[in-house]
Amino acid sequence: MEKFDKKSIDQQVRDGLPFKHRWHNRFHLEMPMGLINDPNGMTCLDGVYHIFYQWNPFGAVHKNKSWAHTTTRDFIHYSTPELGMNPTDIHDKDGCYSGCGLVENGEVRVLYTCNMKDENNVRIPAQRFGTLVDGYVRKDAIIVEKNPEGITGHFRDPNLFYDHDRRYFVLGAQRENQTGTVLIYREEDNGNWSLMGDLKTQLANFGYMWECPGLVRFDSKDILIFCPQGLDAEEFKYQNLYQAGYIVGNLSLDAMEMLHGEFQELDQGFDFYAPQVFSQSRRKILLGWMGMPDKDSEYPTGEVTDAVPWRYSLTMPRELSLKQGHIYSKPARELENLRLQKIDIDADRTSRIDSKLFEGTEIDLNIKFASARKISLALDYDGEIAKFEYDLSTQIFTIDREGMKLGGRGQRRFKIFADDSIKLQIFVDKTAIEIFVQDGEEAASLFVFPEKDSIPKMILTSDSDLQRVTGKIWELDSFKFE
Ligand code: FRU
Repeated sequence: MEKFDKKSIDQQVRDGLPFKHRWHNRFHLEMPMGLINDPNGMTCLDGVYHIFYQWNPFGAVHKNKSWAHTTTRDFIHYSTPELGMNPTDIHDKDGCYSGCGLVENGEVRVLYTCNMKDENNVRIPAQRFGTLVDGYVRKDAIIVEKNPEGITGHFRDPNLFYDHDRRYFVLGAQRENQTGTVLIYREEDNGNWSLMGDLKTQLANFGYMWECPGLVRFDSKDILIFCPQGLDAEEFKYQNLYQAGYIVGNLSLDAMEMLHGEFQELDQGFDFYAPQVFSQSRRKILLGWMGMPDKDSEYPTGEVTDAVPWRYSLTMPRELSLKQGHIYSKPARELENLRLQKIDIDADRTSRIDSKLFEGTEIDLNIKFASARKISLALDYDGEIAKFEYDLSTQIFTIDREGMKLGGRGQRRFKIFADDSIKLQIFVDKTAIEIFVQDGEEAASLFVFPEKDSIPKMILTSDSDLQRVTGKIWELDSFKFE
């Protein structure tokens, strides 16, 4: 176990802010050093959102899994992130893995997976509560000591939910036959937690492991979010190494079964995994990890040099809504407060629009096609190009990073309906880009690593005249840490 000196780790983070490196994002949460992954412990107390996330403060590799902690009231001003929890004893010596947050008796608590490997390298994962005291998690009782019979050591990521005033949690797991599943535990009247079993779905053979489950309720519908590993890629689906998505339906705890529709992905881009949701009555705000396990070599950050000793970001907060069995995600409205100056776009009968962009940019466009069938919106970083294309005649949206030199390249393609117009909202941070198409019907995230410290230009072109393009391009401010 590394020696975790909270004081000096917290000081290093303070010294590293605000970010100056050309690849450090300005309105995405990230760290000056180390590797971050899953958002954890997301909960809200007295108007303050608590955000934890997986963090290795000692290097940009998947090791020393600890939790970072920050708070915000408005998703713009954040407390300077600190070390919130780290391995301290035999139970979590191999990592404080992912878990959820909750408020109990006016305190912020967490429920997380203690990762422990025995002398034969066999995982013995336990589930344990903790309580946030002065910015650091005090570890409380272990409530599940190990994986139950029939389940391998891949048994992690508890996420609480409530039903008829009783507490339950879902947990990601792998069956001994190497299939993924979700288990449900229930809190009994005597305070013990008992296993109800694994949740029956119509996805009995859907990957070898399900990570990071969460149950979210929208009025009369239940949504199970989870991250299946081991699905084969299809032309318009499952194009990432691992997936992050959901099923919508109704969960019966009596039958331990969920009747549901098709598994749908939450993001169509390259870099999105392990999301969690703040559920406050009707408002559901999602944060995801901008990154992907087992793909570190695609990212030029995190080479353990002094120049870029960090890896990965969290997504911007996304507000979810459910329409006809499909989740729409939009940037949380608080992000409008990042807007500074703007450029108005209003062009008739055109097949090309050029615009300068800013250090941080939001592009909001409504594009009416007329005779044009194909549009291409390119971000031009001194000749390196990332582009977003839509073809009305095939209804295919393409994200294309082939024109970038460093980092992951490749394309992502997905189908989305457009009749005679398409709406694009694109957030361009230093390396993180998030796009929202047709008012959030689909979202996509990706990283680009321009070689030079350049502010991109936007070039929108079409294969013939567009009827009209309207919208705005906003300069965006940075997150503030205090
Ligand atoms: C998902 C995940 C979780 C685990 C955590 C460890 O990215 O593998 O299943 O708890 O990361 O960092």
